[in-house]
Amino acid sequence: MTIGLDDVVAAETALSHVDGEAGRLIIGGHDLEELAGRVAFEDVVAMLWSGLVPEGIADPQALLGNARVRVYGHLAPLAVRLAGLTPVEGMRLLLSSLPDAEDDHPALAVGAAGVAAAVAVRGAQGLGPVEPDAGAGHAADILRMMRNGPVAADEVQGLDTYLVTVIDHGLNASTFTARVVASTQAGILSSVVAGLCALKGPLHGGAPGPVLDMLDAIGRVENAEIWLDDAIARGERLMGFGHRIYRVRDPRADVLKAAVGRLKGKDNRIAFAEAVEAAALKVLERRKPGRRLDTNVEFYTAVLLDALGVPREGFTPLFAAGRTAGWVAHAIEQSRTGRIIRPQSRYVGAWPAQAA
Ligand code: ACO
Repeated sequence: MTIGLDDVVAAETALSHVDGEAGRLIIGGHDLEELAGRVAFEDVVAMLWSGLVPEGIADPQALLGNARVRVYGHLAPLAVRLAGLTPVEGMRLLLSSLPDAEDDHPALAVGAAGVAAAVAVRGAQGLGPVEPDAGAGHAADILRMMRNGPVAADEVQGLDTYLVTVIDHGLNASTFTARVVASTQAGILSSVVAGLCALKGPLHGGAPGPVLDMLDAIGRVENAEIWLDDAIARGERLMGFGHRIYRVRDPRADVLKAAVGRLKGKDNRIAFAEAVEAAALKVLERRKPGRRLDTNVEFYTAVLLDALGVPREGFTPLFAAGRTAGWVAHAIEQSRTGRIIRPQSRYVGAWPAQAA
């Protein structure tokens, strides 16, 4: 028995495959590099859901655009409740508010996640919600709703690349959680809310904000190695490094790093981040020899989303906005098996005293 279920196969999926030794991510039969930055998020959603959504998807952009508009009427009045909540807490509140009766359409969940991310990021800053535009692309509309201002084409491309990059990733903690909930036939929206709750932890999708905190704390390239070494000496983990499955570099890191490079004229921290990354890998090799710790998706997520002007507390909500499409697909795939996920535990507690 392993406490973290490390090598346990708990589901069969046709959605995605992570090869941790080769550093390869396959999504719906395609290498990540064939999709991210090349195929729009909506089209990847349609590809991922083919065979899972009975009616098929004729116009994925309109499907998600209409879903955003439909759900906005429900979510916008709740924006007054967001004061004092972090964006991810606000997103959890907003998604939890959706009635199960609306559960019939997977697109509604993805539209809701995009709207909720934008509304929650603004709400945490005391700003009111911005209406969606059904005719816009999903990434463009999320960024516009979040900042209430124009969005450049290269920025749209950057966020679209990000949403595709994180759309699905095998049986990670949040996807497993979503599948467990789906296996009880609780419905798609409950699976998505559960997925978000699992995602927000710093060992999973809560890491990119802390990556930026780390870059800020390091401040200058000359400080990097000493700062990182001290952090490990204090027993801390370096955010954006290490992964349960990847024993080599997470392929998503390079895709996102390239996306940062395509942003025009942004004061991004790519050169500094590269130097910190190199120092971190050196320190990890020295301090944790043989553990095979490498850069994960969160490191360049932080650099990319920061360059897009997203506040760091908004990174996890945007991760969830992309991953919701994967959670939905897994929820449908799981509920079709008709079998509840119900493992065993080994009892290590006290036994009742034997009667004399
Ligand atoms: N920094 C320093 N040491 C680390 C790190 C890290 N980032 N990651 C793992 N280690 C060390 C552990 O302390 C452990 O050392 P030990 O053998 O001396 O006790 C060894 O490497 C093995 O670590 P495990 O705990 O077995 O790794 P696990 O597979 O459980 O953890 C995880 C994976 C949670 C991602 C871990 O690497 C981590 O905490 N990373 C930092 C947070 C992070 O970046 N999270 C985002 C992950 S990507 C995602 O979920 C989207």
